[in-house]
Amino acid sequence: MKILVTGGAGYIGSHTTLALLEAGYEVVVLDNLCNSSDAALHAVEAICGKSARMIRGDVCDRALLDRIFREQRIDAVLHFAGLKAVGESVRKPLDYYENNVGGSITLCQAMAAAGVFRLVFSSSATVYGEPEQMPIREDFPTGIPTNPYGQSKLIVENVLRDLSQAEPRWRIALLRYFNPIGAHHSGHMGEDPNGIPNNLLPYISQVAVGSLPELSIFGDDYPTIDGTGVRDYIHVVDLADGHLKALQSIAERPGIHTWNLGTGDGYSVMQVLQAFEQASGRAVPYRVMPRRSGDIAESWADASKAAKELGWKATRSLQDMVTDTWRWQSNHPRGYLQ
Ligand code: NAD
Ligand code: UD1
Repeated sequence: MKILVTGGAGYIGSHTTLALLEAGYEVVVLDNLCNSSDAALHAVEAICGKSARMIRGDVCDRALLDRIFREQRIDAVLHFAGLKAVGESVRKPLDYYENNVGGSITLCQAMAAAGVFRLVFSSSATVYGEPEQMPIREDFPTGIPTNPYGQSKLIVENVLRDLSQAEPRWRIALLRYFNPIGAHHSGHMGEDPNGIPNNLLPYISQVAVGSLPELSIFGDDYPTIDGTGVRDYIHVVDLADGHLKALQSIAERPGIHTWNLGTGDGYSVMQVLQAFEQASGRAVPYRVMPRRSGDIAESWADASKAAKELGWKATRSLQDMVTDTWRWQSNHPRGYLQ
């Protein structure tokens, strides 16, 4: 089977490309490299001895998509390509709607024209907004995302739902990721954010490696175990495996399906920080700051629907996640540049 992986040079896309190649799929990557480089795909090849075909281009480019579908015999699409920085989305909403919403619509149009109807979409737990209870189940109502990034994910989910209503040949998986962290255990692939990271783990690891002076903890007065925010962190390799299971599942399951990809466990910022310090043997200086606007106190998944329907369960612990993150960051203090 041949899979088109949009955004396959990025953090989650590259780990999934590796998992696909290891499982025997053929992979075509489409990526414009706006937030990545092809170094991640070189690492994939070095690890598994197989390579994906890399096409540098934009998912908004309909003519290019038509050419790819014409020349390659694509069976299904995993759609990771998009912009993902929450703060930037507030400053540049049009870029986010164009790439994330426009790109997804163009992709679906090209898929339909080519008769390819299997799609796995990277959504986010951000679509739940601020749920009243934990853990979060897929049948909870979606919330009102507080930023254009979150809106773009919810809009694409709704577009895909309408599409599936209109045309029964579509088989779509909406995968709502919780907080992906970690790196391949080889230490040769990992998260390589541009500039100063927004997310907790890349920030902690850049402080540990000496690239940033200290971590700001955004609030210690939440109603949680120790006052800091609680999230469901999931190892990126477990997440990648979840995509393979979803791909297999939609082959037998017409229509549109939503699955949470999380572990079902929540950890506080303080717990993550302590686990990281233990794994790295380094002290990570921090300062408690006011809450970050748009943050919620806690978020963790009910992961039982994916377990039951996909036969998928995350197996890697928080200790595995921080150990693998540290191995990657200490091997590559400047990311793929080094
Ligand atoms: P990433 O930025 O590392 O990967 C995205 C890739 O898409 C990059 O390689 C980028 O160059 C490419 N890209 C962006 N716009 C493109 C376009 N118009 N055409 C072609 N390529 C384009 O991000 P990631 O963390 O791997 O996230 C992958 C997907 O998962 C994204 O859709 C993201 O919104 C979603 N997601 C990520 C998280 C997370 O915490 N990382 C959480 C929930 C959902
Ligand atoms: C954030 C985004 C979310 C997006 C996800 C993945 C916001 C409000 N939410 O989720 O839309 O889908 O990233 O890209 O931006 N923290 C610190 N110090 C830091 C960084 C984070 O204390 O320097 C805390 C946060 O307050 C939070 C936890 O760490 O409690 C996790 O934060 P983060 O990694 O940014 O993920 P989310 O906020 O869950």
